[in-house]
Amino acid sequence: MKKNIKPSYEKARRRTKEEVKVLTDKYIIDNNLSKLGLNKKYFIITYGCQANVRDSETIKAILEDMSFKECNDMEQANLILLNTCAIRENAHNKVFGMLGRIKHLKETKEDIITVLCGCMAQEESVVNEIENKLKWVDLVFGTHNIYNLPKLLSETINEKNQVIEVLSKEGDIIENLPVKRDNKYKAFVNIMYGCDKFCTYCIVPYTRGKQRSRKIEYILEEVKDLIKQGYKEVTLLGQNVNAYGKDIDNYYSMAELLNEVAKTGIERIRFVTSHPWDFTDEMIDVISKNDNIMPYFHLPVQSGSNKILKLMGRRYTKESYLDLFNRIKNKIPNASITTDIIVGFPGETEEDFKETLDIVEKCKYDGAYTFIYSPRENTPASKMEDNVTIEEKEKRLKQLNELVNSFYKENNDKLLNKVVKVLVEGISEKDNNICCGYTDTNKLVNVKCSKDNIGKIIDVKITEAKTWSLDGVINE
Ligand code: SAH
Ligand code: SF4
Ligand code: F3S
Repeated sequence: MKKNIKPSYEKARRRTKEEVKVLTDKYIIDNNLSKLGLNKKYFIITYGCQANVRDSETIKAILEDMSFKECNDMEQANLILLNTCAIRENAHNKVFGMLGRIKHLKETKEDIITVLCGCMAQEESVVNEIENKLKWVDLVFGTHNIYNLPKLLSETINEKNQVIEVLSKEGDIIENLPVKRDNKYKAFVNIMYGCDKFCTYCIVPYTRGKQRSRKIEYILEEVKDLIKQGYKEVTLLGQNVNAYGKDIDNYYSMAELLNEVAKTGIERIRFVTSHPWDFTDEMIDVISKNDNIMPYFHLPVQSGSNKILKLMGRRYTKESYLDLFNRIKNKIPNASITTDIIVGFPGETEEDFKETLDIVEKCKYDGAYTFIYSPRENTPASKMEDNVTIEEKEKRLKQLNELVNSFYKENNDKLLNKVVKVLVEGISEKDNNICCGYTDTNKLVNVKCSKDNIGKIIDVKITEAKTWSLDGVINE
């Protein structure tokens, strides 16, 4: 029997100078493995951020290389996978709730294989719990060894024992993984993996390992290939994309990478997520000069209080954030900027919270994801004294959301009667004469037009502005 390999927080925290290799032959699928899934169906649920969405696209392609077929009904599946997120406690709870449902299903149907992967699989305590209490979960693997899924599944099926293989050390960049994309017009392109920022509240540097930038030639090759397939938009992905290249000596910077991607001629380029610390003037310059780099930025602020920003380890102040914000807006006036905010961080006083409201007032964000602070095991913030009651945190979140929402509508109103470019993606479920798509600034628009426009970028005149979306007609 194979010995289980379990994660360790201690090892996950370590950063070594060891060179990251690029491997182009690590993913292997032999004749036996390629038939393992014949006549079997899989069902996958993806939690969390775009990194997980993109990982699921690879997991799906690997399973299809093994002859499994995707199905949309969990009850029909022979193989159920949960690609999990560990960012906050409620992400955990959702997964454990789903595991309860799957256990129930397993009691009525024998041949279901259950797999847990993604960021929760990188957590020591989660894996211990699964090993000790949820022995019926068949396979656990982490974010660093997706390439090994065929072998792991084969062991799971043949050995009929729980298989756990979670590596704590990130290892190399694997460049020969397949992908089954969810969307025909927009694609996610990884440009870096991991994160070295270690914000004190965040679990990602532990679940995703050290920062590793992909070599530019592989990124450009992927984008050029997507253009050939008819893709209109790419989103360059990473936890902290502005630090692209910093882990490789004398390498391309994010500004240089953006410039090169723009030269491929792909119609739309986006990138997430931007850490304010690494956003350079050179980047702003490149973006303002290239029409195919979209004027949309996700620029998480987290808090408006300098005291809290320092405790969070964010490396910028309210003032330097506002300065960056204004530099972007001055050079790219139509820029739409969204953010992430945490309320109720340990030690956050009413005064600190007012600073957060103040920065929201000043930035009038086009959108904000707001969260109540959730302590994550083993992170520095989880050891800080937290004297803010949950009632107070909920009150602050509600107050913050009201303010944030008021700016959604205000910003959308500015687009009334204007003509904007929309990449039409699909047809409305309720009305066949309405299609939906996104503007260059990433706003959702419902357009009165025929489905022949799907996959095209068209000029749309905005006729109505709502809080969460816009309505429009084709501009003749
Ligand atoms: N790499 C991105 C963020 C990824 S996590 C960045 O640095 O901007 C997405 C968001 O989840 C974060 O921006 C933060 O607002 C929130 N988040 C992360 N850890 C959290 C925690 N422990 N409690 C509450 N929210 C958290
Ligand atoms: Fe987490 Fe900070 Fe890294 Fe973002 S930059 S993933 S918040 S540690
Ligand atoms: Fe969640 Fe992992 Fe993303 S913790 S937010 S899925 S990197």
